[in-house]
Amino acid sequence: MGRQYIAVIAVVAVATIVSGQQNVAPCFQEDANTKQSGRLGVEEFGMNLFREVASNTDKSIIISAYSIWSAFLLAYFGSGGRTQQQLERVLGVEGKTSTFQRFKRLQFLIENPFPEDGAVVSTMNKAYFDQRVPLKKCISQLIHNTEHINFRNFGNAAEIINQATSEATRGKITNLVEPRSLIGATFVLLNAIYFQGKWETPFKTREIVPTDFKDSRGNVIGQVDMMYSQRQSKISQAPALGAEILELPYANSSISMFLILPDGVDVNNVLRRLTPENFQKSLEKHFDVQSLVGVPKFKLETTLNNDLKQAMNLLGVTDLFSGQANLTSFSNVPLRADSVVHKAVVEVSEEGTVAAAATAIIGTRSGGRRKNMVFDKPFIFLIHDKQIGVSLFTGIFRHPDDVTTV
Ligand SMILES: *[C@@H]1O[C@H](CO)[C@@H](O)[C@H](O)[C@H]1NC(C)=O
Ligand SMILES: *[C@@H]1O[C@H](CO)[C@@H](O)[C@H](O)[C@H]1NC(C)=O
Repeated sequence: MGRQYIAVIAVVAVATIVSGQQNVAPCFQEDANTKQSGRLGVEEFGMNLFREVASNTDKSIIISAYSIWSAFLLAYFGSGGRTQQQLERVLGVEGKTSTFQRFKRLQFLIENPFPEDGAVVSTMNKAYFDQRVPLKKCISQLIHNTEHINFRNFGNAAEIINQATSEATRGKITNLVEPRSLIGATFVLLNAIYFQGKWETPFKTREIVPTDFKDSRGNVIGQVDMMYSQRQSKISQAPALGAEILELPYANSSISMFLILPDGVDVNNVLRRLTPENFQKSLEKHFDVQSLVGVPKFKLETTLNNDLKQAMNLLGVTDLFSGQANLTSFSNVPLRADSVVHKAVVEVSEEGTVAAAATAIIGTRSGGRRKNMVFDKPFIFLIHDKQIGVSLFTGIFRHPDDVTTV
């Protein structure tokens, strides 16, 4: 009874994000002639992106490529021409109509992990457009979570977006967008994801021991709170990755955490070999053994801005962020993406895992290029009557000490 109730709520939730199939076809008339395989290359995209951003830093990072993929998928639904082709290639999708239907199904499956509802997964997709951007009718039919807000009041717009993100991530991501990042913005495409799972076999607090943490050459570089446990474990040899993999399942869920430990090679070496094929292949040959498991208890947070935009550029999404952007399925007003922000957090403890992430693609009017004008150096000012062409006052501001605050 309880499960049925949850399932019904989930169906309703999905239905409010996206409307029925009958509305989809007329919406995407322009792609009636394109191939409609409905392929969803989310895993391929995710690992490509993860390799890209993780190999560009020597810091620890956490991302939700699924969240990033979803936000760019919203852009894809609004795109046309070459912008659409680039997004299709990078996101691994083909044909808006079938992609839309499969995305909807994928979301439902992700939010209802088989076989039981032991783990919590919830996602949110939302599109915010400025009041002055008239939308194509089909887009608001399609993405029901489309909202018109006043971006000119950028402080308020940031509050609305951050509030929605905070709710969707149960308070784990609170300040996704800075008010100043919305100056001149005309739209924001938003995705958020929240995950909570309890280990099938929890760790015991009394078995947490401070333990040396070493670099790949074996030099001690710090200490972690290691959660130890003697247990029956699923372990895979993964020669394709140069690593061994431990699976830690979440209770009553099809979701597990897979921890990949390099086997005699540097972790960057494993990272370079991390593809969906190599990962899947590695899981095929797992065995159950009694083992001593030691996993650090930790919390990790990551924020990506420009690095993510650069990575998306390198993967092949270039037009979307340029004057060449074609977002004509959203609106006839010329639009382009300007920046992207991604925040993610993960907490791994004795009981299980809590993780959350959010992605915002911030867009602006194309042509009317965004330009910051901050008077933080000496400047001149005129009080000028345009009609009669006379300057009533002229001034120069050279130094803060010259003036008093009003
Ligand atoms: C955008 O793409 C559509 C096809 O999807 C095309 O008809 C239209 O001319 C393109 N617009 C611009 C401004 O490139
Ligand atoms: C998993 O399901 C079993 C049987 O329904 C239940 O007894 C157990 O408490 C559940 N575990 C968690 C962590 O939800």
